[in-house]
Amino acid sequence: MHHITLDSETDFDGWRKAARALALNNVKPSDVTWRVAEDAPELFAPAAPPPEGTFSVPARFVELAQTAILHRNPERFALLYRLLWRLRGNHDLLDITTDPDVAELAAMARAVRRDEHKMHAVVRFREIGREQKSHFVAWFEPEHHIVELAAPFFARRFADMPWSILTPDVCAHWDGHVVSITPGVAKSEAPTAGRLEETWRRYCASIFNPARLKMEMPSRRNLPQASSVKPWIDGPMTANAETEPRTPQEPLMARKHADAIETLREEAADCRACPLYKNATQTVFGEGRQTARIMLVGEQPGDKEDLAGKPFVGPAGQMLDRALEEAGIDRRTVYVTNAVKHFKFVPRGKIRLHQKPNTPEIKACRQWYERELAAIQPELVVAMGATAAQSVFGKITPINKNRGHPIDLDDGTRALVTVHPSYLLRLPDADAKAREYRRFVEDLMIAADLLRRSAHAA
Ligand code: URA
Repeated sequence: MHHITLDSETDFDGWRKAARALALNNVKPSDVTWRVAEDAPELFAPAAPPPEGTFSVPARFVELAQTAILHRNPERFALLYRLLWRLRGNHDLLDITTDPDVAELAAMARAVRRDEHKMHAVVRFREIGREQKSHFVAWFEPEHHIVELAAPFFARRFADMPWSILTPDVCAHWDGHVVSITPGVAKSEAPTAGRLEETWRRYCASIFNPARLKMEMPSRRNLPQASSVKPWIDGPMTANAETEPRTPQEPLMARKHADAIETLREEAADCRACPLYKNATQTVFGEGRQTARIMLVGEQPGDKEDLAGKPFVGPAGQMLDRALEEAGIDRRTVYVTNAVKHFKFVPRGKIRLHQKPNTPEIKACRQWYERELAAIQPELVVAMGATAAQSVFGKITPINKNRGHPIDLDDGTRALVTVHPSYLLRLPDADAKAREYRRFVEDLMIAADLLRRSAHAA
């Protein structure tokens, strides 16, 4: 038997080195146990003699393994080695998505990415100390080992303020130059309104010594403006942080998701990221069930939506409601939003004529879609039309080529592409209209079916 001890829960390099040596020495997966050193890295005899020879695995496996290793499941190291072992005999193994090991790997990687996105969306900093000496601290309880993965995002977004994110696993700290990682702390130790801030100010000051692990220097491109930083600060430290499983905690989860979405809605109301706010009546943010399994994304609010401040309440919304009903989806159970949150139009007499948003406008607004996605965490995103697809996939994505089948997104969510209901309204030919409407309903039925199947599989 070979007993491998990794340095930490996130020790991918250690796993890779050990797995490579084991595979080259033909050690079967059933002959290996994996564990993580409890404190500091221990000195162990090498698991197997230094390997000779070489072999390759698909780059996709390495990418998935790097993500999946951050899952909290203690069996992940063994699963990854089993897959590595099997990939040597079957290079195309990852294409067999029904294989239980492959499916588990994909599910783990998805869960990790979702947790990372959730952390990006819900972490709220509290300011401790004053002015020159102020420091921003947040508490978060990740489901998986994602703190090191997620920290560079905060370093880029809050580049100008010193912050610490405290978690029970590890804590991440940013001093304006480097991210450093220190051991986790108990929730009872996190600063709350009632705790002495001075203690925490000293704690945070003591963290910054140059000997700590250097992780990343954030790129100076796309640094946030002070105004975009502010709304993230001063929220309740522990709100939205826990990560209970979705179903048994549904009412609690609904409240937590609601907190995040309401904060986003308030922030988005002042959005000036592109010029569209100048002529629109208001920001039309998404709405719907906050624990929705489906998120529907349209293009931008129309005339009626702009006045009402709600998405899909005009003619396109009525068509959408009818199609959803025929597909067996209750609109009250989904979350509906738009890629662009302000109405773009040109005035023509008394009418305001809809204008298609351009790429800079779609890009400027994408932050809201991303943050809605992270807060709602749907299982499936339905992109209706080309603008929605461009926002959902982050690039121009042709509808017909991608329509009607689930596509995995980088964050682990799945997406389905279909047409926009307004396209159906514009079709002049009645037969074409009826035919295309049927196809739209069928696409929504595919969405409903995917969720039914994933509910059964769970
Ligand atoms: N079209 C959209 O894309 N969104 C709306 O909210 C209304 C019409």
